Amino acid sequence: MALLDVQGLTRHFGGVGAVFELSFSVNEGEILGLIGPNGAGKTTVFNLITGFVRPSKGTIRLDGQSVVGLRPHAVARRGIARTFQIVKPFPGLSVRENVTLAAFLRHPARKDAEAAATAQLTRVGLAGRVDELASQLTLMDQKRLEMAKALATRPRLLLLDEPMGGLNATEVDDASDLVRQIRASGVTVVLVEHVMKAIMRISDRVVVMNQGEKIAEGRPERVVEEPAVLAAYFGKRVA
Ligand SMILES: Nc1ncnc2c1ncn2[C@@H]1O[C@H](COP(=O)(O)OP(=O)(O)OP(=O)(O)O)[C@@H](O)[C@H]1O
Ligand SMILES: [Mg+2]
Repeated sequence: MALLDVQGLTRHFGGVGAVFELSFSVNEGEILGLIGPNGAGKTTVFNLITGFVRPSKGTIRLDGQSVVGLRPHAVARRGIARTFQIVKPFPGLSVRENVTLAAFLRHPARKDAEAAATAQLTRVGLAGRVDELASQLTLMDQKRLEMAKALATRPRLLLLDEPMGGLNATEVDDASDLVRQIRASGVTVVLVEHVMKAIMRISDRVVVMNQGEKIAEGRPERVVEEPAVLAAYFGKRVA
């Protein structure tokens, strides 16, 4: 059985369909790339899975259990964490305090939550920055902080929304290594990303969306050659 199974997922905003009849699944231990042009519906899919937005229609199951209708904190408790495309730490709190807030989901005692936060910050390479204000971090380190916050909720499934957006080439490589380390530690990953080099390097499988619908699915090197995918990214002439 797939770890995550999505069937017929549909969401309209007013008259506009952001996601339409989308079906895909994620296997345990996989890194699944979810790609598509701007406005394709990728972030909306994450919002639907994590309970920030309710589906108009369709099913979302984690390990066979429906998560539709659960609030975001309840989805997190079931084991799904996400990062945000626009990073939003509490700027006036320290790096460690930011992650401690997330760790409270599994550790009610402050001391335990702080220890868990420190462990996750070490894992993402922020051990030396724990006492700095979150607002003082570079973009790369803010992305690391986002990942530490998500990991501190001890997810089985981690949804990453453009963790490499705005990073330089070296930082993209570092972030790719980090995502692979996270997977190696037993966390299944869905990666939304426009940086194709990273998608090609680290995804086991890719789902391509365009205008709310799935237009292709398969191994990354195959999918990027499909006419429908080239047409979605570069216009009809290529197809
Ligand atoms: N809360 C909302 N209210 C109204 N429309 C929305 C809402 N959220 C998303 N949309 C619309 O749904 C469509 C899909 O947006 P979404 O943010 O999911 O795309 P995306 O694939 O993440 O794009 P990008 O690559 O630019 O981040 C867009 O047309 C967007 O304007
Ligand atoms: Mg998006």
